[in-house]
Amino acid sequence: MKRYPFPRIMTRLPGPRAAEIIRRDEHFVSPSYTRGYPCVAEKGRGLILTDIDGNEFLDFCAGIAVCSTGHCHPEVVAAIKAQAEKLLHMSGTDFYYKVQADLAKELNRLAPGRHENRVFFANSGAESIEAAIKLARYKTNRTRLIAYIGAFHGRTLGALSLTGSKVVQRQGFAPLLQGVTHIPYPYCYRCQFGRRRGRCDLECFRYLENILFQKTVPPTEVAAIFIEPILGEGGYVVPPRAYLQALQKLARKYGILLVADEVQTGMGRTGRMFACEHFGFVPDIICVAKGIASGMPLGAMIARADIMDWPPGSHASTFGGNPVACAAALKTIELLEGGLMENARMMGNYLMSGLRRLQERYPVIGDVRGLGLMAGMEIVKDRRSHEPDPKTRDRILDMAFYNGLIILGCGPNSIRFAPALTVEKDHVDCCLGIVEGILRKLS
Ligand SMILES: Cc1ncc(COP(=O)(O)O)c(C=O)c1O
Repeated sequence: MKRYPFPRIMTRLPGPRAAEIIRRDEHFVSPSYTRGYPCVAEKGRGLILTDIDGNEFLDFCAGIAVCSTGHCHPEVVAAIKAQAEKLLHMSGTDFYYKVQADLAKELNRLAPGRHENRVFFANSGAESIEAAIKLARYKTNRTRLIAYIGAFHGRTLGALSLTGSKVVQRQGFAPLLQGVTHIPYPYCYRCQFGRRRGRCDLECFRYLENILFQKTVPPTEVAAIFIEPILGEGGYVVPPRAYLQALQKLARKYGILLVADEVQTGMGRTGRMFACEHFGFVPDIICVAKGIASGMPLGAMIARADIMDWPPGSHASTFGGNPVACAAALKTIELLEGGLMENARMMGNYLMSGLRRLQERYPVIGDVRGLGLMAGMEIVKDRRSHEPDPKTRDRILDMAFYNGLIILGCGPNSIRFAPALTVEKDHVDCCLGIVEGILRKLS
């Protein structure tokens, strides 16, 4: 078996310095965070993350799909430094500055569809969703919203009202926004209507059109439908193209705005700038964050120019569109278009075929799916019944960490592979080798 210079684990995990940080963190930091294993990051370069004891991990999570250009890409760091020397903050709410206008122009150029767009800048994914909720209500003068079971749109109260991923995220926080209806996501491996992939009449879509819109939710009261073009936190689920096409038609018919939450799928990760492009899906509003600025906090709500006509003062953010974050985003876009998006497509295919090979050998892998570098693998007790196996999924994540591979779960029983878009063949081979070693031990 080929040997790689990574990962390099030299101490017991957590090492002594990591253990000390974890003790401090447990004492002073909010217990609401969801740490699965004791990873205490110190520095990163590309795909390699070094912990505080000097252990080097192979990182296939990229700060939850954020560090799109790899940890501390030298060109991004240089752009950040140059901007930081000039202007750290001014607030785009009350003042103008070049990098914010430049980035808005770039996002307008990149967004799918032939229409002109305008951009609202925020600091995070949830904030970009909040902005979209407000704009959709403002523009349509309607209140109702539709979102999906399994969807994750963030944890602020508006975004949380749309999130339908895990009960713990909502429990204790009611009342949330009124008028939100959740419908089943087109999740073919676990069809809520008991159908088989490719052998259905898009029953999940018919449910929206023929049941919901006929019986409980007047479509003319719906401001917007929020959809992740690939379900992220909910399990890396890729919907059928026909579903998104039908949804687009239905929304246009009733004047409902379509909001694509591309917070996780966007900025080149799937091999196209926006995942919507794979499906010929042209939303009215797109929300992005995560990978947009390679790790700097930035969110954006990109909307058709004729929709974003709200008046001064109706929405704004002190920090949104921070100049340093905008400079990082401009450099990130340059790198994505300069080859990383293409690499995401190629390495995504390579990773996916490796995962499919593992699926042939190990029956715990029920499903393998994804697009580009958003690859998911669902762990089951039984391939026939598709019975989920969250315990084994958690063990795999845990064992991966102790073997030097950083991966995260998604959905109740899936594993996601979301490395930086700079990932190379050796990284993928090493990752697959570690995962296979674990699966062999568990079988
Ligand atoms: C699809 C999607 N939307 C929204 C969010 C919320 O983003 P943030 O955590 O930056 O608020 C996330 C975060 O995981 C996400 O994956």
